[in-house]
Amino acid sequence: MIPYGHQYIDADDIKAVTDVLTSDWLTQGPHVDQLEKDLATYCGAKEAVVVSNGTAALHLAYMAAGIEPGDEVIVPANTFAATTNMLLAIGAIPVFCDARTDTYNIDESKIEALVTGKTRAIVPVHFAGQACDMKAIRAIADRHTLLVIEDAAHALGAEYTEGKIGNCELSDLATFSFHPVKSITTGEGGAIMTNDPAQAKKMRTLRKHGMVGAPEEVEYEYEGPWYNEISQWSWNYRISDLQCALGSSQLKKLDGFLAQRREMAQYYHEQLASIDGVATPDKGNTDQSSWHLYVILVDKERRKQIFERLRERGIWTQVHYIPVYHHPWYRKNGYADTSLENTEDYYARCMSLPIYPGLTREDQDTVISTLKEILSSM
Ligand SMILES: Cc1ncc(COP(=O)(O)O)c(C=O)c1O
Repeated sequence: MIPYGHQYIDADDIKAVTDVLTSDWLTQGPHVDQLEKDLATYCGAKEAVVVSNGTAALHLAYMAAGIEPGDEVIVPANTFAATTNMLLAIGAIPVFCDARTDTYNIDESKIEALVTGKTRAIVPVHFAGQACDMKAIRAIADRHTLLVIEDAAHALGAEYTEGKIGNCELSDLATFSFHPVKSITTGEGGAIMTNDPAQAKKMRTLRKHGMVGAPEEVEYEYEGPWYNEISQWSWNYRISDLQCALGSSQLKKLDGFLAQRREMAQYYHEQLASIDGVATPDKGNTDQSSWHLYVILVDKERRKQIFERLRERGIWTQVHYIPVYHHPWYRKNGYADTSLENTEDYYARCMSLPIYPGLTREDQDTVISTLKEILSSM
């Protein structure tokens, strides 16, 4: 079976984790700080705050940014529901914006029409690892005094013209996911990037129940050195030392992983370009994308059959994404009439082909020849 995505773990990764198992710290030890330093250095941001997953990263980023109940936040619908679910967790209102037809990212030219007096932020998602037009998005945000929070779950290691995604030069905060199919993995894991040390401090508190050390003056007379207090109630979004050791080990290999993904994308571009009935993704920035996904478009009428026949032949493609507003909860809660033209057209035709470090040229040839065979028999 060839999946659409897979982690790559080697002996160094295994040793990094087993070393932690015999150390004094399984959680909140030195590897948490180390991974934060490594990520900040890699991305060129002042601070990284690591957490239990990419969804938690979004939640804390929204909280740290000060998104409040009733705030409207402009988001793409072509994303995993975590992007908007965490807005709902806060009581904020997702406002869906249509997609571009080349990168399938949020269409920045359609954002401004959605801004109202209640709009608080824009959350661009760097879909599949291709950067959104951050300069345009920042300019819109500045015109209307909005926050920009990047959901960069797909894009660790990817670049925009202004440097590495996650450097937060054009945004207030950016979040990553370290789920196994992403650029690097910690099993489950995520991070928030920021250039604001005060925000980083706040998120480090929020990831551990909102707990802080003793204030200088403790009111309760029977207190002692054990004292800590809940400054603001929050969740347990901690990530373990085991996971962070794996993350730092994986990060050392990230540039190699990206080089493999870029080569694979280039090979797909070359081999699929001439096939009738297949549209390859925008390759304008092949060397800048992290190629988390390689999405082709096929005929709407044939997509399901192609998908099923590939599965019968052991090739597990996927569909990214069901537009968020299609999900029953969203339909029942105000989005029943939402339908965005480009997002719908894209969703009806998209299919993610296998791409991940460790996928061999032979595997890619199998995917390409099987796809060709299926298409020519239809
Ligand atoms: C765009 C996007 N945002 C957020 C997430 C959530 O990340 P996690 O699965 O680590 O919670 C994902 C996960 O697939 C994602 O694709």
